[in-house]
Amino acid sequence: MRITLTTVAATVAALALGSGLAVAETRLDPMAGLAGRPAGSDPLDPTTALRARAGTAEAAEGNEELGGLPDGAGAEETYYQCVACHSTEIIKQQRVTDHRWDELWTWMVEEQGMVEPDEETKEIILAYLKTNFSSER
Ligand code: HEC
Repeated sequence: MRITLTTVAATVAALALGSGLAVAETRLDPMAGLAGRPAGSDPLDPTTALRARAGTAEAAEGNEELGGLPDGAGAEETYYQCVACHSTEIIKQQRVTDHRWDELWTWMVEEQGMVEPDEETKEIILAYLKTNFSSER
């Protein structure tokens, strides 16, 4: 095979590109994920940092056992009624009006097939939602 100038040029270009990518890759720091891990945790377990962060956030936000919902009258009822289908995150991120919570309840029942609890429990849950995830107060 005759080695032409074009072949050499292409090889050099490919090598340059390859080493360029390699340089870019070395900038990623795989240890960054371990930053902030609690003292005494296993340094070889990469999930410790993630768990530590999740724990800190939950402690600040609400009751860990109730998916991070803030404690208060109706917290437990809300948790068990709502996590049958989705996580508490979808609730915690809401800041809506009282009227909108009533609408969301109806939508969950009529369109999503949520089984309605007795009237008293419904009022407790709606009061809890309107108190904690409101745009009105
Ligand atoms: C029977 C299943 C079911 C139950 C029980 C349920 N939901 Fe939902 N909910 C859904 C589905 C399905 C969606 C749409 C999820 C999506 O968009 O991925 C949803 C979405 C939502 C949303 C987002 C609405 C939006 O604007 O996008 C909120 C808020 C919500 N649910 C609150 C609740 C609350 C509070 C409860 C408890 C009182 C509850 N859900 C119980 C099925 C349910």
